[in-house]
Amino acid sequence: MEWVGALRYSLALLALLPIVNAAFYRIRPQSTGVLVNQTVTLYCAFNGLTPSEVVNWYWYNPETDDKLYHISARGRVASEFSRHSIVGSSRRGEYNLRIRDVQPGDEGNYRCSVFTVRDAGDARLTVVGIRVA
Ligand SMILES: *[C@@H]1O[C@H](CO)[C@@H](O)[C@H](O)[C@H]1NC(C)=O
Repeated sequence: MEWVGALRYSLALLALLPIVNAAFYRIRPQSTGVLVNQTVTLYCAFNGLTPSEVVNWYWYNPETDDKLYHISARGRVASEFSRHSIVGSSRRGEYNLRIRDVQPGDEGNYRCSVFTVRDAGDARLTVVGIRVA
């Protein structure tokens, strides 16, 4: 009877292997503030990415509209985001989002995610500027 238990245990371990090998966040983007016209970098990195796993950046501003914009896939940035770029070593799983010449309209929530990795965290970007009344 005992070997049945041992067999069950081994099978359970085998079933867990894909979970153990799955990619996970090494660095999650952190909420930050930036002065208008400055450059800001939101950091994001994963461990254990496989070649088929794509890191995406999204942006949405709940205060203006609820549209979720797709900024980038891997290192490729959508043309409408001309001030945005992906920096870092993709070999090391780094997909940092750099925004230069930050404008008030860049404010909102930024999400760095991989489809297969759960619990994507949102980082809030606050743009600080001199507001003309
Ligand atoms: C940002 O740049 C614009 C255009 O060059 C300028 O008018 C404005 O004063 C700048 N704002 C700040 C806070 O530097």
